Amino acid sequence: MEPDNLEELTADLQGRTLSGWNLLQMAGGMGVAAYVVWAGILMPGFRKVPLKLQVPYIPANSKQVENVMSLLKGRSGKMVDLGSGDGRIVLEAYQRGFRPAVGYELNPWLLRLSSYRAWRAGYYGKVSYLREDLWKVSLSDCKNVSVFLAPSVLPFLETKLLAELSDEARVMAGRFPFPNWTPTCIVGEGIARAWAYDIKTVRQAAQNKLEGSAVWPSLSSAGQVA
Ligand SMILES: C[S@@+](CC[C@H](N)C(=O)[O-])C[C@H]1O[C@@H](n2cnc3c(N)ncnc32)[C@H](O)[C@@H]1O
Repeated sequence: MEPDNLEELTADLQGRTLSGWNLLQMAGGMGVAAYVVWAGILMPGFRKVPLKLQVPYIPANSKQVENVMSLLKGRSGKMVDLGSGDGRIVLEAYQRGFRPAVGYELNPWLLRLSSYRAWRAGYYGKVSYLREDLWKVSLSDCKNVSVFLAPSVLPFLETKLLAELSDEARVMAGRFPFPNWTPTCIVGEGIARAWAYDIKTVRQAAQNKLEGSAVWPSLSSAGQVA
């Protein structure tokens, strides 16, 4: 481009101002792009999951995985990761002897990545990555469950886990603890912290609380409590 033309073009551009319509078009374009990334890459397969239960993909780092595994020491049996992402926790659990090792995940890209990672590690076909909604699967036969989900969904998950898991089950939570449960054991610091909950203990505490709240009103109505 000739210098004269360049100067003309610069002057022309400087003379223009962005109209409200231009700004609206730009905002619309950015909105569509953000939606495509969200719906097509981060959250495909989530159409049927209520918005308040949707959790995006943030993989556990190696310290977080290690902490969850340390809470599983001495245990065996079925291990399930609810929302298994790229499958790293399931793979690690399988390598440490948990059978079967299962991940439930809705994002098909992450399921493919999980299978690829399992194949690369030599465990293809040995670990299971299932395209299932974690809110709809039955957990009654799971002895070990890991959960790296958003704090907003944990109260709902407490209800599901207590209703379905057996007394022998242990649940490991990474990043955020369950809001109403008392952990049996805690490892790690900061963002790498992980909490273990033995369902028998959690169930007992819930039962005691229920019985306590049934006793207190009757005592107070009998005039025994000030
Ligand atoms: C924070 S990531 C954790 C991934 C993996 N557990 C890890 O720690 O590396 C949460 C994962 O849960 C998946 N997820 C969220 N809601 C789900 C649902 N209803 N059913 C199955 N997977 C779900 C997301 O796609 C995402 O991969």
